[in-house]
Amino acid sequence: MSLENFAIWLSESPLSIALTDFEIAFPAIESLHVIALTLVVGSIALVDLHLLGLAWRRRDASDLMRSILPITWLAFAFALLTGLLLFAANPISYSANFYFLAKLSLLVLAGVNMLAFHLFSHRHLATPGALAPKLSGAASLTLWLTIVTFGRWIGFTL
Ligand code: HEM
Repeated sequence: MSLENFAIWLSESPLSIALTDFEIAFPAIESLHVIALTLVVGSIALVDLHLLGLAWRRRDASDLMRSILPITWLAFAFALLTGLLLFAANPISYSANFYFLAKLSLLVLAGVNMLAFHLFSHRHLATPGALAPKLSGAASLTLWLTIVTFGRWIGFTL
């Protein structure tokens, strides 16, 4: 099924109809989406600034990640749920929107970058001045700030 056909099918679903009929639903869900994404991007930025050597230099990176990443994953699950509900409210417009599609692609790239960090760069954390963790941190920060910018642009380009 193409994204276009899926969007048409979803737009005729009881969920999509309820989300558009119940006026307060969209702004309420978007507010929750913003709270969730603030926690996701804020917590990831804390780790990235540390990897770049710009914050908490005396803290052990693995220890910092152990305390922060559970919050990140919980907030991400919430951002995903609220994002899917926002999409369901207007699937045909979003599925044709460049910034929405680009944001989802960058979310996948941010996931690949995180995986590459945990598989490769992570083992260089104990080496003072190692480049790999810094590159992971810089790529992550750039990706997430772009995701937020594109997310904001969606509403202006529908
Ligand atoms: C953690 C990952 C995510 C981040 C950082 C993020 C970021 C954003 C931002 C910054 C906005 C603009 C909010 C505003 O200022 O009003 C937004 C809106 C939106 N996001 Fe996300 N988002 C994420 C995940 C998702 C996912 C997974 C989906 C759907 C599959 C999604 C769908 C949407 C939709 C439909 C809007 C509404 C655009 C509008 O009409 O204003 N988001 N997102």
